[in-house]
Amino acid sequence: MIQKLIRTAFEAREKAYVPYSHFAVGAALLTKEGRIYTGCNIENAAYTPTNCAERTAVFKAVSEGERALQTIAVVGGREAEGEGEVDYCPPCGVCRQVLQEFCDPETFEVILAKSETEYKILKLKELLPYGFGAENL
Ligand code: THU
Repeated sequence: MIQKLIRTAFEAREKAYVPYSHFAVGAALLTKEGRIYTGCNIENAAYTPTNCAERTAVFKAVSEGERALQTIAVVGGREAEGEGEVDYCPPCGVCRQVLQEFCDPETFEVILAKSETEYKILKLKELLPYGFGAENL
C-alpha cells in the first residue's frame, strides 16, 4: 500500500497547475474506507487562491462523503525534477490543520517520498503538535 500511494501521488503530480512557482506537488490520500483520493496543487494568477495538493485531495474526499482519513503520501519538487530527483516535501501548516480535522493525529500517517523506495513516515501528531481541534472549542 505504501508503494501504491507513492506511485499514485507521483501520477497526480503530473496534473499540477504550477505556471508561477514551477513547483509541482502530488498527493494520494487513503481513507479508512479504503478508497484513494488524489490531489495536485492548483495555482492562480492572484497567488493567494492557490490550493495545495494535500488540501485538494482532502476536499475531494470529504466532498464525496469521506470523513475518516488514514494515510497521505506527498511528493513534490521543482517541475523539471522527477521521481528520485525530488527532495522531501512536507505539508504546509494550513494543510496539516486541514488534515487534523478529519483524522486521529496520533495514528494518521504522512508519507514523505522521494521515490517508491525512498520515503519516511511521520505521524500527523509529530508534524502538528498541540494542533487546534474541535475539543478546544
Ligand atoms: N505546495 C503544496 O501543494 N503542498 C505543500 O505541502 C507545500 C506547497 C504548493 C503550493 C504552491 O503551489 C507551490 O507548492 C509552492 O509553494
